Amino acid sequence: MDQITEIGTILEWYLSVGVDEALSDVPIDRFETSRQALARAPAPAPERPASPASAPVSTGAQGFASRPPAAARAPAPAETAAAASARELAAACDDIAALEAAIRAFEGCPLKAGALNTVIADGTFGADLMLIGEAPGADEDRLGKPFVGRAGQLLDKMLAAIGRDRARDAYIANILFWRPPANRKPDPVETAACLPFVERLIELSKPKAILLLGATPTSALLGLGDGITRTRGRWHDWRGIPAMPTLHPAYLLRQPQAKREAWHDLLAVRRRLLD
Ligand code: URA
Repeated sequence: MDQITEIGTILEWYLSVGVDEALSDVPIDRFETSRQALARAPAPAPERPASPASAPVSTGAQGFASRPPAAARAPAPAETAAAASARELAAACDDIAALEAAIRAFEGCPLKAGALNTVIADGTFGADLMLIGEAPGADEDRLGKPFVGRAGQLLDKMLAAIGRDRARDAYIANILFWRPPANRKPDPVETAACLPFVERLIELSKPKAILLLGATPTSALLGLGDGITRTRGRWHDWRGIPAMPTLHPAYLLRQPQAKREAWHDLLAVRRRLLD
């Protein structure tokens, strides 16, 4: 094999394992930085508050879906020292400035070491509609804001279709604050480390309704693991706030025929916000 072919083969292999961007000229041992971050986090708290999967789901009056059977529930995010630390830190934040500072200072999510930016939220804090996606991608990581790439452009059009604008009357965040390599799905340890902060973002912003974009936020916040095409389109209860799972805009870019279902969900959101 000549040298050029050899380099090409190595680059192909890098791509296949998710290494798709050069961030630095100097190699960094990410396994070591993750080990150090986890070692710095305090020991787990003895008791864990009720997981989303065990939170009661209202039925009837508000038209919420009934509690799913055990088989349809997603596995709870991993209980780790980092998750316990995140819960403690998030609970101590009484306003958005403190919460954002706590997220930026948090070292318990291994993804932070490989990210360019911490991506927290965009739009209007306190808006009556909050949207939660999965995780930052390459564009979001570069710019430090959620949903600024192609999926974000479609999301803006979806919002405009129900008369909303992220700068004015929507607040957008993700389940993770740091980009997973090669845009892979968040793993349970990463989700557990970020989730307490996401929950606190929602609690402090106090939306009237939450739109969950895709399977990842639906599983992390509602404990529903039965596939987004089954769970979308019905209201669920998240700690007293109505939450609607819908299709992720990145999925809609790949499957434009599914926009019809997403439109149905958006209309339900618009109706609820007009109530
Ligand atoms: N997809 C997401 O889920 N979140 C983003 O911020 C961008 C793309």
